[in-house]
Amino acid sequence: MKRRDFLKTAATTGTGLLIVPSGVLSGANAPSNKLNIALIGTWGRGEAHFKDLEGENVVALCDVNEEHLEFGAKRFPNAKKYVDWRKCLDQKDIDAVVCCTADHTHAFIANWCLNRNLHCYMEKPLAISVEEARIVRTNWAKKKGKLATQVGMQRHEHPNFNRIQELVRDGAIGELKDAYAWGNRQIPRPGYLPAQGEPPAHLHYDLWVGPSPFHPYNPGYFSGGPGANCLQWNMYWDFGTGQIGDMGSHTMDLVWNVVGNGLPTTMEASGEPFNPDVTPVRMESHAMLPANDWRGEIGVHWYQGGAMPRTPRDWVDLNKIGHGAMFKGTKGYLITDFTSRLLIPFGDNADMSYYDRRPKDKMLPDLGHFQTQWINACKNPSLPTACDFEYSGTMIETMVLGLVAYRVGKKLDYDGATGKVKNCPEANELLSRKYREGWTING
Ligand SMILES: NC(=O)c1ccc[n+]([C@@H]2O[C@H](COP(=O)([O-])OP(=O)(O)OC[C@H]3O[C@@H](n4cnc5c(N)ncnc54)[C@H](O)[C@@H]3O)[C@@H](O)[C@H]2O)c1
Repeated sequence: MKRRDFLKTAATTGTGLLIVPSGVLSGANAPSNKLNIALIGTWGRGEAHFKDLEGENVVALCDVNEEHLEFGAKRFPNAKKYVDWRKCLDQKDIDAVVCCTADHTHAFIANWCLNRNLHCYMEKPLAISVEEARIVRTNWAKKKGKLATQVGMQRHEHPNFNRIQELVRDGAIGELKDAYAWGNRQIPRPGYLPAQGEPPAHLHYDLWVGPSPFHPYNPGYFSGGPGANCLQWNMYWDFGTGQIGDMGSHTMDLVWNVVGNGLPTTMEASGEPFNPDVTPVRMESHAMLPANDWRGEIGVHWYQGGAMPRTPRDWVDLNKIGHGAMFKGTKGYLITDFTSRLLIPFGDNADMSYYDRRPKDKMLPDLGHFQTQWINACKNPSLPTACDFEYSGTMIETMVLGLVAYRVGKKLDYDGATGKVKNCPEANELLSRKYREGWTING
């Protein structure tokens, strides 16, 4: 059996790749050897993955911008080249996909990968609507343990993520009641950019717009530097979710990693006046997350664009933490950024005597390198990844439900089992988005 057929069969049947008897396949074709990888989006954020992919076989490159495609081809000259990711995914020898395209294509490409038994590393955010997040999660549930998925929330590798999970779950702030995350990046825009000129010959603009409703070309959508060009388009409703999918994916990860998977029962939100073209700069959302096996029901709160939670003590200026999180318990607060933390026990008995510090040998092990964790899991899908499509899917579903609550201006009762709002028909209309003809989300 050819290596790729073996991988596909293993993925379909759930065979763990590492249990292949030695000698069945060895040498260059050994399944534990290199993966055949397709990189979709070969410039900007794509370049950040070059080094991690060098140890594997990059067999396909895809970019709607042919100059960017050539940029990738310089590093991976043996890969086949594509401008349409749908054609790229037809290449038969691919095992795994790393995707760094614009946000409005993420859920599409994630689903197409899962449906073709391809491992997938998807840049954040995983999806830009509630429905998209749920379709990816449903497909992933069928492939869990057989494929490896990861969403590009690579800050998760900071040991601080483990430390704050241990502190909260071990009771350093008593019983958890509320968790807050915020980000202060502010990129105001009046509306979609006006039509300006023709797309250059090397840019397949219609493919870039892809499944989203068409908006005329303007070079401004492509005027950002490498790795930061997403800040030229991610605030428009048809191309992204603004700061929720941008820094919000990283910052809410600090919270999600502590509170555990779950979907909200209620959601309310407020912010600046609604703009039909552009997602809000200033906005806050408040969800209730049901109890799970280690905590009671809690509030999960998101603030952006200048909206901020109240500081627990006047001498702590939360505004000085650009992207941060805070946990409120019955006995104190924990304030964090990605790499450091501040514990504030409160009350007359703020002596921490209630808290049993975890012994060193029981502390959570370091994650190691985030992209390597995914590559290792591709080779042995029984290994977990920190930000798989279940974890990242429930997180982004919750955050974009906040955008829906913001748009309707009502407190929503949400049924996480069915993905429906129970008390607001107009909110249900906003859980999905409209696609252009010819594009299939679950293809
Ligand atoms: N994890 C992180 O820290 C991090 C950092 C920056 C960006 N990102 C994410 O990476 C993605 C790309 O961001 P960027 O700033 O590099 O954006 P970008 O606009 O520069 O796009 C990256 C590359 O993808 C190509 N591309 C876009 N849509 C495509 C499509 N449909 N098919 C094929 N190629 C396509 C572009 O031409 C470009 O070469 C975004 O989703 C962003 O959220 C993540």
